[in-house]
Amino acid sequence: MTQPISLSRYLVEEQRERGKIPAQLRLLLEVVARACKGISHAVNKGALGDVMGSAGSENVQGEVQKKLDIIANEVLIEANEWGGHLAAMASEEMDSIYVVPNRYPQGEYLLLFDPLDGSSNIDVNVSIGTIFSVLQKPEGGAGVSEQDFLQAGAKQVAAGYCVYGPQTMLVLTVGDGVVMFTLDREQGSFVLTQEHVKVPEDTQEFAINMSNMRHWAPPVKRYVDECLQGQDGVRGKNFNMRWIASMVADVHRILMRGGVFMYPWDQREPNKPGKLRLMYEANPMSWLIEQAGGASTNGHQRILDIQPTQLHERVSVILGSKNEVDRVTAYHANV
Ligand code: AHG
Ligand code: MN
Ligand code: MN
Repeated sequence: MTQPISLSRYLVEEQRERGKIPAQLRLLLEVVARACKGISHAVNKGALGDVMGSAGSENVQGEVQKKLDIIANEVLIEANEWGGHLAAMASEEMDSIYVVPNRYPQGEYLLLFDPLDGSSNIDVNVSIGTIFSVLQKPEGGAGVSEQDFLQAGAKQVAAGYCVYGPQTMLVLTVGDGVVMFTLDREQGSFVLTQEHVKVPEDTQEFAINMSNMRHWAPPVKRYVDECLQGQDGVRGKNFNMRWIASMVADVHRILMRGGVFMYPWDQREPNKPGKLRLMYEANPMSWLIEQAGGASTNGHQRILDIQPTQLHERVSVILGSKNEVDRVTAYHANV
């Protein structure tokens, strides 16, 4: 019988045997995982834990904050600020960066997160998650500033998410493929349950919020129209549709069985590139998808190549099975 491999053991082996990560990054990932475990417990308590409903405040993007958005944000900060591995953090729920207080040692990493993704699903008991991205603080220069965070997604040194669904799972990449861990609640540890995750290149499943159809740009309309025509149309095959409204859960499904996920630009707010945030939603998910053999673009370029200009900047997202993402991206080239 083979021994189950815990997250701790996987990370130690990535550091010691495969030389993929330094010790500080290993510590950082252990701490993020521990925070996610804490968030998972809060999520599971639901109405018994006073975690449901609105907090009555708004975040920097003008979205109403749920209690769990704030709880998850606090859990991540409290877990990460004292370990000495981080210089600063940034979050969907904080206007500006959170510099590690002077009373703690400062490390060389920057951590970005969407503490609670899929907030609209909290109160209806549907899967939600936490998304995170790790960057290295650029060398030179004392202190840390927002500018230090503005690095293209291709520079990430680790990225992942934790999905709080029927099972709590942590999905991770350090640039060595995608691995999945399932939380063993009795042991209190994440156990490796899937390695060598591969997104099939072809798919017959797409994910998009169809209620926005009338607002989409022509390339996205064309792609979805062709899917809807099924086997009688140009694609010659039937398509299925799924939309969970938690990016974490939609991306998790795509990592498991393929598909294409789109949150494109639309004309409701033409000056916004899209709804999703580049640095702590699109970048980590794009890296995971690429590491699993899929693709991710904004319709015009690889998301991981975009040079951010603002911490909370938004982006149009098309990611998943490579051949479908290539097709949607090609449709954008003609406009
Ligand atoms: P968040 O809860 O962190 O604000 O993110 C919600 C995002 C994403 O998870 C999801 O794919 C999308 O918003 C859902 O949007 P719709 O409400 O348009 O379905
Ligand atoms: Mn989100
Ligand atoms: Mn969120």
